[in-house]
Amino acid sequence: MEGTGDWRCIGKVNELSKKKCQRLYSAGGKMSDLALFFHEGKFYAMEAWCSHLGGPLFSGEIEDYKGRCHVMCPWHGYMFDLQDGKNEIGLQQEVHEVKIEGEDVFIFYKTALSTSPSSE
Ligand code: FES
Repeated sequence: MEGTGDWRCIGKVNELSKKKCQRLYSAGGKMSDLALFFHEGKFYAMEAWCSHLGGPLFSGEIEDYKGRCHVMCPWHGYMFDLQDGKNEIGLQQEVHEVKIEGEDVFIFYKTALSTSPSSE
């Protein structure tokens, strides 16, 4: 069922905030991976693969665009708003809530997540 999930601990704030963009590997397989962004003191989680043609958004650049922070897809340069996943030509990325408790970062998501790929 879409929309169900749980708060998944993905690591410590001081480690995860060292990278602006990174991939989070889902226990549900590659297509469920997420991109985690850290920008101006805040974390954002978005589905990893671009809704245009599947580019890796965790390899994108964060840019200010029309007064809001966006990730620019490395493949064709479309921009996606970090907060709501919207794009100005109507593409849409799913975004997921992120919270910090103590030193830990959590994402509300359907599967467990890891910063490194599982050993397969
Ligand atoms: S695949 Fe992302 S802009 Fe084309």
